[in-house]
Amino acid sequence: MTFRDAIILPGRAEVEPNAVDIHTRVTRKRHLNIPFISSPMDTVTESDMAIAIARGGGLGVIHRNCPLEEQVEMTKRVKRAEALIIRDVITVTPDASVGQALELMEKHNISGLPVVENTKLIGIVTGRDVRFAQATLLVKQVMTSKIIKADEGTPIEEAKRLLRDHKIEKLPIVNKLGELAGLITFKDILLRGKYPEAARDENGQLLCAAAVSPFDLERAKKLDDYADILVTDVSHFHNDNVFKATKKIMSEVSAEVIVGNIGTYQAAEDAITELEEVGGFRVGIGSGSICTTTEVTKAGSPTLFATAQVADAVAKSGADIPIIADGGIRTPGDAAIALAAGASAVMIGNLLARCRESPGTLITIGGRYYKQYRGMGSQSARAKRFSLDRYSMPSKGVPEGVEGWVPYKGDASILLDELASGLKASMGYAGARSIEELWRKAKLAALSPSGLEEAKPHDILLPSESQEV
Ligand code: XMP
Repeated sequence: MTFRDAIILPGRAEVEPNAVDIHTRVTRKRHLNIPFISSPMDTVTESDMAIAIARGGGLGVIHRNCPLEEQVEMTKRVKRAEALIIRDVITVTPDASVGQALELMEKHNISGLPVVENTKLIGIVTGRDVRFAQATLLVKQVMTSKIIKADEGTPIEEAKRLLRDHKIEKLPIVNKLGELAGLITFKDILLRGKYPEAARDENGQLLCAAAVSPFDLERAKKLDDYADILVTDVSHFHNDNVFKATKKIMSEVSAEVIVGNIGTYQAAEDAITELEEVGGFRVGIGSGSICTTTEVTKAGSPTLFATAQVADAVAKSGADIPIIADGGIRTPGDAAIALAAGASAVMIGNLLARCRESPGTLITIGGRYYKQYRGMGSQSARAKRFSLDRYSMPSKGVPEGVEGWVPYKGDASILLDELASGLKASMGYAGARSIEELWRKAKLAALSPSGLEEAKPHDILLPSESQEV
């Protein structure tokens, strides 16, 4: 069964679609406000996409087709994009030069730096202080030493009042010893109001996940310092060596680990019994829009079938493990069907690759805009990875993905709104108020090929087609 073979039977509805709740869980402990996750692919998820999707309430998984330092830097950028209190504050010493302070501000794209001497906060220097000063002057000659600051534990409302009353952008937080313990910024307070539905951690930072090869323990350990969730990134997780290596990673990191991809009841059952504390399952093999796995190898497990299989195994074992349906999502209805079959969220590559925030190149073909999109098993993606990542030496000699172009969509927020509204409408038809209710209430039926044809607009010339006539 694939998404195209299934249809949701309308059920008795007690709520209107706009009142449907699509909050969900992505791992045992982490919650999202929308059930959409961006694929760890180098034409889909780098910092910009991860920030955009987390602000929308979902989750980005930073790809691993780059050197370790680059992936860590991208993850850090997402975690630094917002915070209730910034803990890893970038500071400057009083004896640094104005030029050095400016360089730091530009490098980290920030407008001010607390001045710290032997861990004590002694001043603050802003863009205004340094921009017109001579680069050779010292920070201590231009900094403001009468600092407005607050004690550790100051309530956020009080911090807001201080920022407003003193017309300042940054409020340093100090501990009892006068040491810098954090920083509250006006920008972060504004962002909290601007993105009320964002998926955030306990510290108000955006949630961020990162992809790892099960065989790259060093990368997993480094990313564990920043990412909230690690996601194994192999097309066939149900493999003795992969299980062993993942077990090792799980014993050495503190983040929850989503494992996959798997596609069968047996794979889920083996993972549940042999691996402790699986954070989530990533399921589906060969359904991705850029996949050639099944075409090349005649092996695979379509995402809908895989979701149903894994959901059965999870339910039978009594385990509490969320399922992420990965690959082949083209419409909000596909997402609804995946959720109805037991998924908690869906992973999306193609649709998100179309957005402004994806890293792919934007080009025009015949006067229309397109973005580059490629499978991570495609020839060019493999060539890049294998030159960088010694753990990913090919055990397989054939490409299992293609590369091409997808129509440009614009901001990810537009797509996410459309997906969320469409999903709520589907759930409204199913008569479900929440994703948990959808699991219990939804009835899926098989759609014949002629049913599929009839479900599309027919016997009408559409404007998009008439332009091509
Ligand atoms: P969509 O349909 O959203 O699917 O484009 C994205 C998912 O496809 C998987 N993926 C691949 N599968 N060969 C494959 O067989 C590839 O080269 C490839 N690259 C990505 C991946 O699970 C992703 O989330």
